[in-house]
Amino acid sequence: MYFAELAIILSSCFHSSTSFGLNGLSNGYRFFIKELNTSLNLFDAPDIETNWIEQPLDHFDSNESRTWKMRYFERLDLWRNKGPIYLFINGEGEASEWFLRTGIMYDLAKETKGAMFLSEHRYYGKSKPFKNINTETLAYLSSRQALADVAKLLETIKMSPEYKESKVVVVGGSYAGNLAVWMRLLYPDLVDAAISSSAPVLAKKDFYEYLENVSDDFEQQGTSGCYDKIVEVFKRYDELFKTDSGIAQLKEEEQICNNTDMSKPENKQLFFLDKASEFMYEAQYGSPESIKKLCDEIITYSKVFSAKDDETDLWSERNNCFDYDFDAMVEAMRDVDWVMSWTYQTCTEFGYFMTTASENQPFTDNIHTDLFYSLCTKTYGEKFDEKRIDEGIERSNELYGGLQPNVTNVVFVNGDLDPWHRLGVLEDVSYEAPAKIIPLSSHCRDLFSDRPRDPEELKEARKYIKYLIKKWIGAGEYKMP
Ligand SMILES: *[C@@H]1O[C@H](CO)[C@@H](O)[C@H](O)[C@H]1NC(C)=O
Ligand SMILES: *[C@@H]1O[C@H](CO)[C@@H](O)[C@H](O)[C@H]1NC(C)=O
Ligand SMILES: *[C@@H]1O[C@H](CO)[C@@H](O)[C@H](O)[C@H]1NC(C)=O
Ligand SMILES: *[C@@H]1O[C@H](CO)[C@@H](O)[C@H](O)[C@H]1NC(C)=O
Repeated sequence: MYFAELAIILSSCFHSSTSFGLNGLSNGYRFFIKELNTSLNLFDAPDIETNWIEQPLDHFDSNESRTWKMRYFERLDLWRNKGPIYLFINGEGEASEWFLRTGIMYDLAKETKGAMFLSEHRYYGKSKPFKNINTETLAYLSSRQALADVAKLLETIKMSPEYKESKVVVVGGSYAGNLAVWMRLLYPDLVDAAISSSAPVLAKKDFYEYLENVSDDFEQQGTSGCYDKIVEVFKRYDELFKTDSGIAQLKEEEQICNNTDMSKPENKQLFFLDKASEFMYEAQYGSPESIKKLCDEIITYSKVFSAKDDETDLWSERNNCFDYDFDAMVEAMRDVDWVMSWTYQTCTEFGYFMTTASENQPFTDNIHTDLFYSLCTKTYGEKFDEKRIDEGIERSNELYGGLQPNVTNVVFVNGDLDPWHRLGVLEDVSYEAPAKIIPLSSHCRDLFSDRPRDPEELKEARKYIKYLIKKWIGAGEYKMP
């Protein structure tokens, strides 16, 4: 049985799981692969090379001599002498070569004759310092170590004489969008410019704002009566939890496994998280159309259908039922490496816990920070408590500057449908570090290539981003779009 589906939502633009629940950026692979396929020229068969670079296990402890191999990809067929270097920084998931074949970085590389690289983040994909991922081996996982990995990769690339005069541009979306800004912040001599898409640069424990904007999206983009229907359906779920007979009825209606004890507070929270995650998913990755579609469903059936089709799910094929047992979910998570790694980062660096603490949302108040504290201590041990989470978040914001990172030549891009924008840079930090908000756009959309059906604002935003990058690196023809 798998439960980890719910486990983590962070900020992957493209993750191989549709997990939406405990700390949510990771998600949407399904969706993106579909998108990518439509924008990919299948006859284009470039030489993409897979390479490995040796990295120190700990960049900041000279007594630690262990090393490991980080994977990266390169594509050089578009490169011409003195052309720039583009590096797509992958975040919390397996790196996919797709972004060397399509997307805004590929378009830029084509227009400026650039060399393209793609790095895989430590502890994800095939870039694992240890075979087994557990509390002890995770001690070397942090954004700070990952940034040092990227710096070492860039230094190594720049050692080749042909790149001596090349400018360096880094690109990232979601959590990796943070990394893109922070590379420019901490390694300004190595990195000349950055595109930071949908990046939640502010670490925050109780990220109640997320559901506020999910709520706004359904209120503003949903069909008539949609918002009230969401209120009604969630209120009813809440009512059913109040009595034993209500719980029995809920279990039958919602195909909840007979042996799941729904009177346990954590299990109840998990249920609400699962139901709310259907709306979170559409707000983060969807469009006004897909929001309306979910509205039609809830209005027609007066219920929320939980997703069943993911590799790591609450849904059990064997028993044909949903298992909302929190403890069982924590145990199942241990087998899913990226979930173990990403959850660790939320527990030690970022928080990003999406709760129902705000009154300005329709999902009732049934998802609390204590669920996430419990996730952290049960998964990694008692030391990973609320105090430690607080300290980690404070350290991150101090180190990276929160919503005011002291950078230049970085463009901060957010879609206003995407609830993650609440932790992003929405106002220009300075003339040289502008923010761009794309109306009705969702998570990371600007990182893709233009498609005919894309809204004009999205296409215009891509032109603007490319203009800025070319201006900052002095490449090719650039004029204000
Ligand atoms: C390295 O080891 C030496 C000797 O054990 C110790 O004095 C020193 O503090 C250590 N340095 C670090 C950075 O841990
Ligand atoms: C996000 O939520 C905040 C607070 O509710 C609101 O001010 C803002 O307009 C919302 N953004 C969008 C795009 O709805
Ligand atoms: C739960 O138990 C009832 C009665 O024992 C049975 O009819 C039903 O099929 C079971 N449901 C599930 C989902 O296992
Ligand atoms: C920002 O960075 C510049 C140089 O990179 C430095 O001179 C300046 O003091 C920094 N500002 C703050 C507020 O840290």
